[in-house]
Amino acid sequence: MTDARVVERLRSTLPADDDHPYRTGAWRPQATEWSVDRVEVVEGAIPADLDGLYVRNTENPLHPPITRYHPFDGDGMVHAVRFRDGRASYRNRFVRTEGLVAEQEAGRSLWAGLAESPRSAERTDGLTARGAMKDASSTDLVVHGGEVLTSFWQCGELYRLDPDSLDTRGVTRWDGWFPAEGVSAHTKVDEATGELFFFNYGVAAPYLHFGVVDARGRLVHYEPVPLPGPRLPHDMAITERFVVLNDLPMHWDEDLLPQGIHAVRMHDKPSRLAVVPRRGTAADVVWFEADPTYVLHWTNAYEDGNTVVLEGFHQGDPSPRPNVDDELWMFRYLALDWMQTRLHRWRLDLRTGRCTEERMRDDFTEFGIVSGRLTGRRHRYVYAATGVPGWFLFDGLVRHDVETGEDHHLRLPDGVYGSEPGVAPKVGGTAEDDAYVVTFTTDVAGDRSECLVLDARNIADGPVARLRLPERISSGTHAAWAPGSALPA
Ligand SMILES: [Fe+2]
Repeated sequence: MTDARVVERLRSTLPADDDHPYRTGAWRPQATEWSVDRVEVVEGAIPADLDGLYVRNTENPLHPPITRYHPFDGDGMVHAVRFRDGRASYRNRFVRTEGLVAEQEAGRSLWAGLAESPRSAERTDGLTARGAMKDASSTDLVVHGGEVLTSFWQCGELYRLDPDSLDTRGVTRWDGWFPAEGVSAHTKVDEATGELFFFNYGVAAPYLHFGVVDARGRLVHYEPVPLPGPRLPHDMAITERFVVLNDLPMHWDEDLLPQGIHAVRMHDKPSRLAVVPRRGTAADVVWFEADPTYVLHWTNAYEDGNTVVLEGFHQGDPSPRPNVDDELWMFRYLALDWMQTRLHRWRLDLRTGRCTEERMRDDFTEFGIVSGRLTGRRHRYVYAATGVPGWFLFDGLVRHDVETGEDHHLRLPDGVYGSEPGVAPKVGGTAEDDAYVVTFTTDVAGDRSECLVLDARNIADGPVARLRLPERISSGTHAAWAPGSALPA
């Protein structure tokens, strides 16, 4: 790789002999930022009809925790490969959050992490839902208005990144305004209208809001969806006319919240799903009841006549019992097999107000996405990840055909772990699976990382191109694909 350049090395105070299970191996964090203008292709060839940006966020810590690390505490690092004209360039950059900058100066963690008491923190400011946490902007990202927008699962700022350089441009402000509640991860872009949909949640009534930003970046709608108490929604969905929000029975114990204790547990009550017109208000919300579960991620939603069809990953066991003999139990609940995450469909009938649901698969998959062109429209294919038992690691990809029930599997070699994929429609392609599937891999034994390009119709056949990244990257979180047409010229 001739033109890989180190752009910057950030200050890391992590010990050289770090032995934390989620800061070593596939999660070994990086401190180095790279630029590669022409990425080396080690196998196959980059298709000429692949044009766009594959971006992925990563929880990448730079400092030891104050007391106890959780894998969601790391600073946001974005990796991006830009494909065009049969070539590819690569960048990785930290999101220059307020927290990252302050901790770089201090040389230590200033905020408490998810598994720590906020009383231990030197700084407790920020927009996060539970408060007293660093907004690491490390969870999710989308491309909207020609910029990469990173977000945090506990709500926070939307950080704006230049899609070419990945430089952090600052935080999002709509005509100078941004919700005091912040914005949650899992904003949704409607590629047909150019709109961005978002939600936020928090500990103060009305507990949940949603909003719409138009294609020109103007906030055009922001309304409450009142809940009975503080909840922990992680994702939302849209259809052509509606927004789908949720009130699920796994959330903070409300009796403990006044003491500042954020204990998450399942409650004995149904799941509730809200359907609201895209420009609706609290008065327009229609609630549906469903079987109790927790859902981290919806794959998509769409309308079928007067029914809103919602698809996502039902958890058979949202709060697995800890096994205190297992020193890693605290992290096991991140594993797909512990949560028992299965593809599932909820049908919300707007005439009867009733929800019917069905399990679509027996196998555990999660982090499933559909082609961005079909966000809010009926889809046929979901590209999802399979998990290593007991770990938050992806050992393969699956293409679920939700019409026929057929699945195609790509199993990665032992010790090689993938990322949430991006679906890249072929330039000029029209069929839903006339597309490529793109993912990053982390190969621990080989101490390297690659970007794989797969044919969406034949993911089981392995990559049509393998690209070598300049160094091994940490396993990460959410990814997105933006077509070249959505990027600045
Ligand atoms: Fe997520």
